Amino acid sequence: MKFTKSLKCALFSSALLFSSYASAYSVGISFPTQNEDRWYEEGFLLDKELRNKGFDSYLFFAGDLDINLQKRQIRRLIDQGVDTLIIAAVDTYQLNDVLKEAKAKNIKVIAYDRLIMNTKDVDYYSAVDNEMSGELQGEYIIKHLNPDGDNIKRMEVFTGSLDDANSQFFLEGAMKKMSGFMVMEYLLIPSKEEKQEDTAIEGWSTELANKRMGQLIEKIGYGPNSSVKLDAVLCPNDAIADGVIFALKKAGFTKENMPIITGCDASREGLRNIDEGLQAMTIYKTTELVTSTVDMVVSLSKGQKPEINDSFTYDNGAQIMNSFLSNPEEIDYSNYKRLMKN
Ligand code: BGC
Repeated sequence: MKFTKSLKCALFSSALLFSSYASAYSVGISFPTQNEDRWYEEGFLLDKELRNKGFDSYLFFAGDLDINLQKRQIRRLIDQGVDTLIIAAVDTYQLNDVLKEAKAKNIKVIAYDRLIMNTKDVDYYSAVDNEMSGELQGEYIIKHLNPDGDNIKRMEVFTGSLDDANSQFFLEGAMKKMSGFMVMEYLLIPSKEEKQEDTAIEGWSTELANKRMGQLIEKIGYGPNSSVKLDAVLCPNDAIADGVIFALKKAGFTKENMPIITGCDASREGLRNIDEGLQAMTIYKTTELVTSTVDMVVSLSKGQKPEINDSFTYDNGAQIMNSFLSNPEEIDYSNYKRLMKN
């Protein structure tokens, strides 16, 4: 901690005396919610891995996506004098003030998986390449539907929460792979709802995704025997996919006629839905992301610059981030079993 480090200079007379006061390099982890598998399990895993390396680690979840609580928790970590903050923001546009305070105390800040926008007071971005995740989702749909002039397909689009910059990255990635087919009208969106503002699901909520899919079913008349066939639903993560699947099941779809549904996180629900033949794919993020973030902290604790592998892709509006981007791993029926949890 900062306090004990300055003591170190003063107490030159007795290394032994100092060592009884010295504490380890300390890290504060601020995660957005404890109500989603992904953040809950990854928070504890990151905390454990940091402790294994000998760091002091303090883990906070912002209740269920409570940005004001997250700010209070970060302020508490700043006051406590942590050396590094690892933050997955509830709202990636609302942490500027609190990060200014961290900068003033010379605390290093790592944005974890969610890019924190419009501030220079974040030092590193450690993330799974979220645009690439979107690309994998879009590519999966194209590869499995093979749309062309003689094989026109229909799809609906869901996007993540508008307060999370990742939502846009996922969508941009998917559209890179699909928009050519949409322009040619080989791939249609019957609802015509494809922009972020029409398709966003606040808080990446399963319930809200379920509600929107229910409305689309009613509006377009989708059903297993309907004349308008639904071939795919682009879902950015498993929580949204789960809500969509629930609505489709309610409308009579089964694993025999379920549209191709994408996801991300390899969450319990996502893997269960793949196991039951209801969801086509998901994306696994955890291991490499946690390891590379811990590696960043190790370098910072030694006063070294962490390894980065990208400094041109992710622009947060105030700077192009020094990033370590991990690779998203595609998971489907062929390889999901190794990730199944109880
Ligand atoms: C992450 C996803 C996650 C979503 C909801 C996004 O920022 O990239 O992996 O599913 O947040 O928590």
